[in-house]
Amino acid sequence: MPQLFTPSANKLPLWIALALGFVLAVAAAVTAYHLWGPKPYAPEQPIAFSHATHMQKAGMNCLACHSSALHAAKAGVPDSRSCLDCHKHILPDSPKLARLHASANPDSPGYTGEPIRWNKVNKLAAHVQFDHSVHVNRGVGCSTCHEGIERQDRTTAIPDMSMSWCLNCHRSPYGIRPLEEIDNPEYRDNPELSDRLIEQWKIDPGTNCNTCHH
Ligand code: HEC
Ligand code: HEC
Ligand code: HEC
Ligand code: HEC
Ligand code: HEC
Repeated sequence: MPQLFTPSANKLPLWIALALGFVLAVAAAVTAYHLWGPKPYAPEQPIAFSHATHMQKAGMNCLACHSSALHAAKAGVPDSRSCLDCHKHILPDSPKLARLHASANPDSPGYTGEPIRWNKVNKLAAHVQFDHSVHVNRGVGCSTCHEGIERQDRTTAIPDMSMSWCLNCHRSPYGIRPLEEIDNPEYRDNPELSDRLIEQWKIDPGTNCNTCHH
């Protein structure tokens, strides 16, 4: 079979080596990007609060702690006294909760009453107006904007809070869901239902500059 030994066939191993080298170089670049590239902001907090633990082990939903999102601009962070409803009984002696008891539990020996100052994770520029309630009451779910928080041990910022992120959805709204699903992180987007709700609720977000900038 002389065809097998044509000059081009002789180069086959070389091509394979080059292709393999290329694949390895791409893999190395991707790994390096993940290790050393820009990371979404996730500040350390005064108490190592984990959304993953509370969603999975305590079976809570988002609005149990962030109910202001339904009727105010800010979703807010719960008062530390509400944490004690559970933590007077759940892991009451955990060193990870000492700071909580010092802040909110007058019966604890280390009580100081000093509030817990959570570090802000998401921060829009002051010239932008954002309001949770206008979104949440129009079927834009928490997980559409804060995807994956329910799996995080340390809360991470929305990776892209740019103007084009807002405008993409305002120009052609997506992910609209029934209101009873609003804080269900397992909800899977249903584009047909979303389109129907957009019609039914006459959803038409503004795109003029003064919608978001005053
Ligand atoms: C047990 C109460 C609790 C539950 C349940 C809960 N959160 Fe939180 N959330 C907190 C606390 C406390 C903080 C502040 C500490 C931190 O940032 O991790 C916080 C912070 C956040 C932040 C960042 C705040 C900032 O500074 O920008 C977002 C976004 C958020 N939660 C969304 C959610 C979503 C979405 C859900 C449901 C999937 C949820 N939370 C469920 C208590 C809770
Ligand atoms: C349309 C996108 C969007 C939706 C939907 C949304 N958020 Fe937010 N969220 C944001 C943005 C943007 C910020 C930063 C706001 C700022 O800096 O003023 C934020 C900030 C927060 C914060 C920090 C505290 C505050 O109020 O600024 C919490 C907590 C939070 N969101 C929880 C939730 C929860 C819980 C839901 C669902 C009930 C939800 N968000 C739905 C975009 C969204
Ligand atoms: C509905 C009950 C409930 C509420 C309310 C609640 N937690 Fe928890 N928390 C739990 C459960 C359940 C665990 C996991 C217990 C386990 O690992 O066995 C937990 C674990 C923790 C831990 C880890 C402790 C350790 O030693 O591993 C911290 C820290 C914590 N919670 C902080 C908070 C804070 C802060 C709040 C208020 C914003 C809060 N929790 C509100 C039920 C709750
Ligand atoms: C996933 C879709 C989505 C994203 C992302 C989103 N919005 Fe909206 N926005 C909506 C919907 C839907 C409404 C409600 C429109 C209605 O009631 O007709 C709305 C309403 C608003 C309103 C009230 C005025 C109006 O036009 O109804 C403001 C202000 C606003 N959004 C600002 C923002 C800003 C700022 C951001 C980015 C930080 C943002 N939105 C991101 C979907 C979105
Ligand atoms: C749906 C909301 C929305 C609308 C509509 C909107 N913007 Fe923005 N704008 C934003 C957000 C969000 C940012 C980024 C803020 C940040 O970085 O924290 C921004 C940032 C900006 C900035 C600062 C530079 C930059 O790119 O970060 C300028 C200037 C600006 N917008 C001008 C405009 C003008 C002019 C219009 C009308 C043509 C407009 N915006 C419409 C939400 C909006």
